[in-house]
Amino acid sequence: MTSKKSINVGIIGFGTVGAGTARILIENADIIERRMGLPVRLKTISDLDVKRDRGIKLGSTKLTTDAKEIINDPEIDVVVELIGGYKPAKEFILAAIANKKHVVTANKALLAVHGEEIYAAAEKNGVTVGYEASVAGGIPILKSLKEGLAANRIESIYGIVNGTCNYILTAMTNEGRAFGDVLKEAQAKGYAEADPTFDIEGIDSAHKLSILTMLAFGTPVKFEDVYTEGISKITPIDIEFAKDLGCKIKLLAITKMANGEVEARVHPTMIPESFPIATVDGVFNALFVKGDAVGNTLFYGRGAGDMPTGSAVVADIMDIGRDIVSGCVNRMPVASFRKRQQLKVRKMDDITSSYYLRFAAIDKPGVLSKISGVLGKNNISIESVIQKGRQAAEAVPLVMMSHEALERDVRKALAEIDTMDCVGGPTVVIRMEGNGKA
Ligand code: HSE
Repeated sequence: MTSKKSINVGIIGFGTVGAGTARILIENADIIERRMGLPVRLKTISDLDVKRDRGIKLGSTKLTTDAKEIINDPEIDVVVELIGGYKPAKEFILAAIANKKHVVTANKALLAVHGEEIYAAAEKNGVTVGYEASVAGGIPILKSLKEGLAANRIESIYGIVNGTCNYILTAMTNEGRAFGDVLKEAQAKGYAEADPTFDIEGIDSAHKLSILTMLAFGTPVKFEDVYTEGISKITPIDIEFAKDLGCKIKLLAITKMANGEVEARVHPTMIPESFPIATVDGVFNALFVKGDAVGNTLFYGRGAGDMPTGSAVVADIMDIGRDIVSGCVNRMPVASFRKRQQLKVRKMDDITSSYYLRFAAIDKPGVLSKISGVLGKNNISIESVIQKGRQAAEAVPLVMMSHEALERDVRKALAEIDTMDCVGGPTVVIRMEGNGKA
């Protein structure tokens, strides 16, 4: 047992999540101490802006503009990095680790790209890095993968891990509005950033998926190996067709084991309305995890915001605090598996899926057979066809749903179809999961 009187914490970054973390540490101090055995002392907070009132009574906590006052303070046990981005967050974290301090971070972008270097530094220095808050905010999904589901071979994870995209797709589905219109509203309400690229182009989800994949399968995953496609090209017409098919379009982060290789991909996905995560709407996140022993599990909650994300940050501080109280070091390996393996991430060309294909077909005799001929020649079998409206000489939407097909074959077929005279524009492709009938 430790002779320490408190677990001493410094927070770098007093923005939304930093303020939520400080509020929880202060307002829930009693329950935190009862659960952990020692109080948490929030000794110092650093931020470039120490003047703005965050509405939190900080008591004896020192505010500083210099993060080094935290990183180099011999009294501080846990450095909490909440500034985000690559620089200077990476330098701060590595310096804290070199000073033998435990680190807690919500920085998914940093971990997805530089995680291996940070995990190795932590292992070498005998400290831990907690990153529960980096994926799905307040949902304890990383702890569940590391601990609650540790007995399982994870088979697949389907995640809605970006609240901004889910908010936009939900409004498009429920209100029939266009992407750009809903994005503007989301920005006005503060749900989307002024520069929304990371969210809407799927990059934020891919950062999170690389962390999830690593924890699910015990393999390092390079962020650039995660296939990433966002929602900015989704149109109301595809949402309408999805409804006709009894489906919804969601931005899914998908990871699966497939014959010893890992699939890791983020893209808009058509899923049956009966699929459990199809009902997850608005800014909420959810993860559907299948393990070989446990079967299907579902995790749901808020993926962003000061208090939900702060909840995950404080839980990590408490895990570290519990280890310090009981005098144990690195009970949990930083990357979860004590013995890791290097699995191959399957190339997108090699995945199989069923597909929603919307052709811009010129409405005249023989077009359907020409298109299906090219699909057939490329081993793509059609499950059903829908055509709505009739406008001779103009392109009309012709929708086909395929059976399971190889992505390489689909790309090859579309490269041919999209140059045919009877087709008036590029074909829209949306992958389907649950085979239209989960
Ligand atoms: N920008 C993220 C989202 C939240 O929209 O869900 C932080 O990861």
